[in-house]
Amino acid sequence: MRILSGIQPTGGTHLGNLIGALRHYVTNQDVGEAFYFVADLHALTLLPDPAVLREQTRSTAAMLLAVGVDPERSTLFAQSHVAAEHTQLAWVLQCVANFGELSRMTQFKDKSEGKGDSVSVGLFTYPVLQAADILAYDSDVVPVGADQKQHLELVRNLAQRFNNRYGDDLLVVPKPLIAEVGGRVMDLQEPTRKMSTSSASDKGTVWVLDEPATVLKKFKSAVTDSETEVRYDPAAKPGVSNLLELLHIATDRSIDDLAAEFGSNGYGHFKVATGEAIVELLAPIRTRYTELMTDPAELDRILANGADRAREVAQSTLDRVMATVGFLPR
Ligand code: AMP
Ligand code: TRP
Repeated sequence: MRILSGIQPTGGTHLGNLIGALRHYVTNQDVGEAFYFVADLHALTLLPDPAVLREQTRSTAAMLLAVGVDPERSTLFAQSHVAAEHTQLAWVLQCVANFGELSRMTQFKDKSEGKGDSVSVGLFTYPVLQAADILAYDSDVVPVGADQKQHLELVRNLAQRFNNRYGDDLLVVPKPLIAEVGGRVMDLQEPTRKMSTSSASDKGTVWVLDEPATVLKKFKSAVTDSETEVRYDPAAKPGVSNLLELLHIATDRSIDDLAAEFGSNGYGHFKVATGEAIVELLAPIRTRYTELMTDPAELDRILANGADRAREVAQSTLDRVMATVGFLPR
């Protein structure tokens, strides 16, 4: 069984990334053979400053290690270190993907809004590169947040279409692993929007590296509703329900239990308790991250080892695909 996922090195890691994706990277590394990578090729779609991209690629790798990805048990690498394999497979898949299905990707529609014809082709083909990332490793399971559901559905369709054209079982059709609770962490200020790197203000986004006082403050000013009852009802009470999910994940206590404990006495105490639980969840990660960032050479060494292992696997899938579609052997 292969597990694989990727995270973009853009703008820092927030609570949504941690709860929706990264903690599942950690729990799944013993379920099978795990591959985790920093998606720096995908980050290029935003044309970041080169020095910033380099810095954030390293710091995102450090974040994965800090949350508990263990390079002895998982293959951790930078996507660009295996760029040749990923992008060659992406080309073949681009010839299988069609314009219509890519045009329907909601992430593309959101990100290209208002850009007209000047939107980059990379932003358009982004999900095909993601398909190559996944299919190159014969991945069975892909732990991601709920926002990646549509991309994963596309990846499954491309794999199935390829197999229908060229032969059964040539590509493994992957399954997304999306948590029922915590798969979509909401913005603390606008609880009907997902928490994201690109919110207008960062008052609703909790960064994993935020100071404890900042985290508490963000939770204390979280938007709830005009009632006083702590009750789980995402449609009617999105703010309170988001906090309940977070408190449940941070304390391991059931949502029912927590709702019963906080009852109908207003939200003040509930918000502070949630903030404190999240501070506790983040504290060891911050400490470990800070340690790891003092030794960039060690981070580079871990990534280099990961790239060697990743390339071996991706190369063998690519050879199989290249021979299948009709290219002459060299
Ligand atoms: P990205 O930073 O967009 O590369 O996302 C990295 C991972 O975090 C992906 O698996 C996303 O689905 C997940 N993710 C991003 N935002 C959230 C959120 N608000 N709630 C849950 N998961 C999220
Ligand atoms: N598109 C994903 C995101 O924004 C990141 C990503 C790139 C990814 N390649 C992947 C996730 C392969 C899972 C598998 O979150």
